Amino acid sequence: MREAIFNPSDVILKGIIESNLNHIKAFTCGNGSMDNFLQCEAYIACLEREASTTLVYYKEELVAYFTLQRAELKIQLDENVQQSRDGLSLARLAVDENFQGHGIGTYIIERIKEIAYMVNERFIQTDAVYEKWEWYQARGFEYVIEDEINPTNTDGLVYMLMDLYNEALIDKFFDE
Ligand SMILES: CC(C)(COP(=O)(O)OP(=O)(O)OC[C@H]1O[C@@H](n2cnc3c(N)ncnc32)[C@H](O)[C@@H]1OP(=O)(O)O)[C@@H](O)C(=O)NCCC(=O)NCCS
Repeated sequence: MREAIFNPSDVILKGIIESNLNHIKAFTCGNGSMDNFLQCEAYIACLEREASTTLVYYKEELVAYFTLQRAELKIQLDENVQQSRDGLSLARLAVDENFQGHGIGTYIIERIKEIAYMVNERFIQTDAVYEKWEWYQARGFEYVIEDEINPTNTDGLVYMLMDLYNEALIDKFFDE
């Protein structure tokens, strides 16, 4: 994967608070429902502890946001065994249209992985819009339900999981 063309040291992550609500009015990512969530629902969802939205600034300009929450994840352990457990859900991720295609979304996924490690989460889930499921797959998520990646599902969502359990590192630890 390519190196970020923006300088990560110029990125600042800020929780959504009253004093930065005026920054979100001009945010446009190309998906009206994502824009609408940020402008109308994100702050109250944060106050009510439903879902936490983080604003991503690059050189003091709002370039992206992501929303995390706790959710019940459906984990397929093997063909016949499905388990439910609490985990981290990436409820929304959007990059402003003017900044897409520069590695900012990829950078955010890496930050979310760090957050998951810090709070000791094994799984991260997301419901990807169909046209983005491969983008998530290239960044470590796997689809769970084969039917959802069928081209007849282009209007639907694709349930995806990232598993942070690293068997190779565990084997290496015990082998040494
Ligand atoms: C999906 C979305 C978050 C991706 O954000 P982004 O900042 O454009 O993502 P990136 O720049 O990291 O990756 C996009 C492309 O840029 C390319 N790219 C350019 N520079 C890059 C870099 N430094 N690192 C990684 N990829 C880079 C990648 O190859 C990638 O191409 P791919 O789609 O073929 O993998 C953004 O398109 C978006 O907000 N879309 C509208 C809302 C939406 O659909 N959200 C997802 C809902 S599930």
